[in-house]
Amino acid sequence: MEPVQEQFSVVEGLMEEVKMYSVTNAAELEQFRIRFLGTKNILKDVFSAIKNVPNELKKEYGQKVNELKLVAENKFSELEQQFKKTDKTDTGKTDISLPVTIKNPGARHPLTIIREELVDIFTRIGYSVVEGPEIEDDWHNFTALGMPEDHPARDMQDTFYVQTNPAILLRTHTSNVQIRVMEEQKPPIRIIALGRTYRNETISARAHCTFHQIELLYIDEGVTFADMKQTLLYLAQELYGAETKIRLRPSYFPFTEPSAEMDVSCFVCGGKGCAICKQSGWVEIGGCGMVDPVVLENCKIDSEKYTGFAFGFGLERMAILKYRINDIRLFSENDLRFLKQFEHL
Ligand code: PHE
Repeated sequence: MEPVQEQFSVVEGLMEEVKMYSVTNAAELEQFRIRFLGTKNILKDVFSAIKNVPNELKKEYGQKVNELKLVAENKFSELEQQFKKTDKTDTGKTDISLPVTIKNPGARHPLTIIREELVDIFTRIGYSVVEGPEIEDDWHNFTALGMPEDHPARDMQDTFYVQTNPAILLRTHTSNVQIRVMEEQKPPIRIIALGRTYRNETISARAHCTFHQIELLYIDEGVTFADMKQTLLYLAQELYGAETKIRLRPSYFPFTEPSAEMDVSCFVCGGKGCAICKQSGWVEIGGCGMVDPVVLENCKIDSEKYTGFAFGFGLERMAILKYRINDIRLFSENDLRFLKQFEHL
């Protein structure tokens, strides 16, 4: 083939290549762009080869190369369109592996932060997370937990009733989950339940009609008060640091016997006394106790064979102490000025 003919056939070959080109991913599209439209594209070489073309054919050659360039450009936008349809995340023009500056990142809610921390602390020692209903019947929220109708302890928890007779209510604590789990599973039982609870209280900076609790339940043969104490110490030290101490004060819950209130040594002043612990050196965290045999029997668990402990406390309270939040209403108002303060956590 004569050198001139050869040059013409190079152009034709490229034209063929352009027309036949198809892409399935961003990298292939980019290859096309580099080859035909990039700064060092092949058409430039083809153009500059015009100097070797005899004068009388220069015009024809130039036209052919120009046509090739046009076809390549059209082909590129066609491929790009087609590719956009199949892959919306990547047009081939964007290198999605490049680092980006994130504007307005979302922030986790302080209760979510606490929740995730607690789930991590307890799943690490073999507890599993369960959920229970927020709309509950009387049996699971009260009766099975040792609070039959007319029991004075019901007054401790002002209740929102959805329906009376039979009573359906918004759960006043997460202890309903204890009952649901014990009715369905046989020991060993090792669970935590976290969720929303409701009480008919006047909303103020210190109280709300909706809040969150975490509930823990451990039932097996030979579980003792010492096991409970050790578990609570583990929790306190994981949350507030290895120096943290705990203390249990006798208390009363209808579903645990004996019952206690747990305090942790103040994590702000280390126990010396400050505004957070009201100069006492201790901060109250929540209630706990050995599951009352009556409750086990209510769930058809042999109370001669099995024992266990439970505890429950409010997540808002933990977050209030940890982040020094002075108004419980902030948790449910979705005020961005509040939420943004947790961006870095
Ligand atoms: N349910 C109790 C409350 O809401 C807390 C608690 C749970 C106490 C488990 C002891 C054991 O006040």
